[in-house]
Amino acid sequence: MAIKTRITELFGIEHPIIQGGMHYVGFAEMAAAVSEAGGLGIITGLTQGTPDKLAAEIARCRDMTNKPFGVNLTFLPAVTPPDYPGFVEAIIKGGVKIVETAGNNPQKWLPAMKEAGVRVIHKCTSVRHSLKAEAIGCDAVSVDGFECGGHPGEDDVPNFILLPRAAEELKIPFVASGGMADGRSLVAAMALGAEGMNMGTRFIATKEAPVHENVKQALVAASELDTRLIMRPLRNTERVLNNAAVERLLEKERTLGEKLTFADIIEEVAGVYPRIMKSGEMDAGGWSCGMVAGLIHDIPTVKELIDRTIAEAEGLLRKRLAGYLA
Ligand SMILES: Cc1cc2nc3c(=O)[nH]c(=O)nc-3n(C[C@H](O)[C@H](O)[C@H](O)COP(=O)(O)O)c2cc1C
Repeated sequence: MAIKTRITELFGIEHPIIQGGMHYVGFAEMAAAVSEAGGLGIITGLTQGTPDKLAAEIARCRDMTNKPFGVNLTFLPAVTPPDYPGFVEAIIKGGVKIVETAGNNPQKWLPAMKEAGVRVIHKCTSVRHSLKAEAIGCDAVSVDGFECGGHPGEDDVPNFILLPRAAEELKIPFVASGGMADGRSLVAAMALGAEGMNMGTRFIATKEAPVHENVKQALVAASELDTRLIMRPLRNTERVLNNAAVERLLEKERTLGEKLTFADIIEEVAGVYPRIMKSGEMDAGGWSCGMVAGLIHDIPTVKELIDRTIAEAEGLLRKRLAGYLA
């Protein structure tokens, strides 16, 4: 069985399931596993550090799969910005035809990408930013609700409201992002107007995810009550899994109040990802994690996860939901 939507058509994929860019998770192994299983895998551009390394990672991914995969470009607020022109060039020269942008308006980079035939899906957390993405020529949007792992923005609108609101306004197709875990999520997202779903956290707890086993076990152990919002006073809110470093950071936020600066919390957030994802030091600092952790109870292969998601979605549509019709 396959579920066909404008998203599967746009990206040339079998299932409307995307793996969102994830810092220190979105390596070639992750992206290739998702694409091989019929979804859309995404390499995280900035994790590679330099355009040359990104080019090598794209080549490595191409050795692992002949199916379409994408690259995530996250536009961060930074004093010294990463080499974005170089990253865009590496993507285009590497023949990648799908880019997930996030973090900020991608307008500046669209002409070059469009000219190279790259399809752009912009991930954002509000209807107004989704409409902006549509207006500047993005092909699709990933609508990221308040539940999501990573940066939910500052509006705090959960997907039960955000998705139907996006459906009311958007003409381009969109996927639901944040809190998505299984066939129930996919069917619910589609009922609310989305044409597929984007998963982050759920894909980390898979056999192929190239992260330390401790990270996967932490996700299985965590409940939906175990995430925290950090950096809200800096208007750079991030949803992370709670741990000793996060507790310390939140205590600083409480004590310093409006006086808090990035320098005060640098120890809990800077350089944390390799320590967590590679070395499995689970208390090293704050790392993105969605409330969906509460729905993660096992560590399947990516193919098992995607196949059972589609089978569950089909069962829901054909049996459970159809069964309510009088
Ligand atoms: C560990 C981790 C790292 C992430 N890093 C990035 C990133 O670098 N760029 C980005 O656009 N999104 C990033 N995200 C967000 C995901 O792409 C996705 O939007 C989000 O995880 C969806 O919510 P979910 O975790 O509830 O599925 C990250 C998420 C996680 C869990």
